[in-house]
Amino acid sequence: MDTLDALMTRRSVRKFQDKQIPDEILDKIITVGRYAPSALGLQPWGFVVVQNQDVLNRISEYCIPIMIKGMEHAKGGMSEAFLSMIKSEGYSIYYHAPTVIMICGSISNRFKEIDCALCAENMMIAAHALGIGSCWIGSTDVAFDNQEIMAEFEISEGYGPVGTIIFGYPADVPETPEKKAPLVKWIR
Ligand SMILES: Cc1cc2nc3c(=O)[nH]c(=O)nc-3n(C[C@H](O)[C@H](O)[C@H](O)COP(=O)(O)O)c2cc1C
Repeated sequence: MDTLDALMTRRSVRKFQDKQIPDEILDKIITVGRYAPSALGLQPWGFVVVQNQDVLNRISEYCIPIMIKGMEHAKGGMSEAFLSMIKSEGYSIYYHAPTVIMICGSISNRFKEIDCALCAENMMIAAHALGIGSCWIGSTDVAFDNQEIMAEFEISEGYGPVGTIIFGYPADVPETPEKKAPLVKWIR
């Protein structure tokens, strides 16, 4: 797979085979993440690899009611479809993926969110190139200010949560969603 193919054929995967990813493949994905650019080359990221489904279920069960409450007034289209999905029996914000990686940022670093997002995209592209599906899960964010729930991630001192990404062997790969024409201005 060449670079442009990898970038354009990656999709957010939400259905996974019941099979764990070998540690050396996850190490490779993290290594590729670490090669992302970062402000001043400070590499302010850290990683927590979670494969304990009890931990993930507890976090998901905490987040779902908050998400439902936040979407009570959702009307029409995607929001209604999303609301009915998160209300459905057995739904997990992590889609029962075998591995979830929390990317953490050094709390003293001004550019941590940007640097960690670049690292995350590297990881998702690396995963895709290795035949592994992934999806950024922003839903975890509703738990970021709950210390008891966040303790489940065992984030190291000096680091804070930036984002969670699920990984697994795809059982289903969605169609490419509409990619909107962007506003592009050329100044010559
Ligand atoms: C910051 C961010 C947060 C996201 N949060 C979620 C989420 O909580 N649950 C989910 O199913 N997908 C989530 N996604 C995936 C997007 O829905 C997905 O990227 C988008 O629909 C485009 O599809 P594609 O990634 O296949 O191109 C998130 C993506 C980003 C970048």
